[in-house]
Amino acid sequence: MNKFASKSTPREKNNDPILRGDKISGDRYYSHDFMEKEWEYVWTQVWQIAGWASDIPEPNDFFVYKIRHEEIIVIRQEDMSVKAFYNVCPHRGNILVHVENGSLNSFKCTYHGWEFNGSGELKFAQDPDDFDGGNPCDRVKLKEVHCRTDLGFVWINLKEKPQPFEDALSPILEHLKPYQGEKFIRVLNLTAEVNCNWKVIHDNFNESYHLPTLHPELEVHIENSYKYSQFDMYENGHNRMLMPGHLPAKDGQNPDLVNFPLDEALKAWDLNPNDFQGNAQNTREAIQSQKKKLAKDRGFWHYEYLTDEQLTDYYHYTCFPNFTLTMTPDGFQLLRPQPHPTDPEKCHFEHWFMVPKMDRLSASSTFTGSDSTEQTADSGMAETPVGPRPLAPAEHEWVTYPEGSMGFVADQDISMAVGQQRGLKSRGFDDAILSRQESRVRRYHEVINDYIEGRR
Ligand code: FES
Ligand SMILES: [Fe+2]
Repeated sequence: MNKFASKSTPREKNNDPILRGDKISGDRYYSHDFMEKEWEYVWTQVWQIAGWASDIPEPNDFFVYKIRHEEIIVIRQEDMSVKAFYNVCPHRGNILVHVENGSLNSFKCTYHGWEFNGSGELKFAQDPDDFDGGNPCDRVKLKEVHCRTDLGFVWINLKEKPQPFEDALSPILEHLKPYQGEKFIRVLNLTAEVNCNWKVIHDNFNESYHLPTLHPELEVHIENSYKYSQFDMYENGHNRMLMPGHLPAKDGQNPDLVNFPLDEALKAWDLNPNDFQGNAQNTREAIQSQKKKLAKDRGFWHYEYLTDEQLTDYYHYTCFPNFTLTMTPDGFQLLRPQPHPTDPEKCHFEHWFMVPKMDRLSASSTFTGSDSTEQTADSGMAETPVGPRPLAPAEHEWVTYPEGSMGFVADQDISMAVGQQRGLKSRGFDDAILSRQESRVRRYHEVINDYIEGRR
């Protein structure tokens, strides 16, 4: 095994933390005061994903990450490491870079012309002799931000002395390394402004109780009952759900029948769907065996460190403070509601999809339920939750909701989020009444309270 995957992803159930039962009141979703507390005690303290590392493959490549009113320039260095700086000229506070990304070997401020190199050092100042203390070039730098790369992402932390990265991301880093995300391509990079607080969306990903009502079509190929799924909550506020895939839901309408897209997934692995009509609960294990047999010859290198369960199932990580990573055998998804710069009743909802770099993406029909896998195989296209996309790094797209789509399932989630935001403001709402399977929602708000109230 390589150093990225010395251990397989564990499946052991983690002992549930004790919940205090903190009230989840509506004001958390609309109060400006609460929004500012989150800024001071959460956003400026935690490790967060700034971007996708292979977006900046060469020295001097950069992108700008925005979190509320802050802007961070993330730049690939000559030694291929990555550094991050506040996007602010230290002379008089002008914003330094006004584009989303690019490649520059110097950053020149448009106000008085100060010029910085990619390591943040001031290399040119107009009239250098006119400064008390002499030429500012040798002593002025852009203010640096802590920065790391892992799992394919660039991570930053705005705190002066942050919690060690590995501690903060435990156990996610260890759990997700076997997927080899750093070798994947981001083929989808969407953002939509949505009329709800960012936590409304993250709460939604912290429970699967809504699946039978809001996403009934998924039961054809995903187990959607809490009875057959596993939920884990970890010390740092990260949670996960292990949900069997590639079989119909046991308590659903047709637990023994093979329907689309499960039939396509079987065919893709040389299995005959008719052999499983009437005994469709066997599809998951049959596909696991076929994948183990055929994957290597088909060039599915990304299965190398995955367990049998990972060849069919959904490993769904809802991480603190606001990102969800849904790991499937042939791609993974980031869903992330970012807080709006000024309005607690809006957010910027991001949807990325990452797929393995392969010459030939064979039909697999695992995640998206699309019927276009036959077309995408060998065509230089990849399946994504919004349909086929070029198998190449994606440009950032703003989606206007609801005219545009963030993907079929994500659209269903958003449609509820907007109504929920309105209801949460009502005097008719007091506190959530949660089922046990929704404990991750309560837990998540309690971790936010821990930060705000000084327990973390
Ligand atoms: S503010 Fe940037 S050079 Fe003056
Ligand atoms: Fe959903």
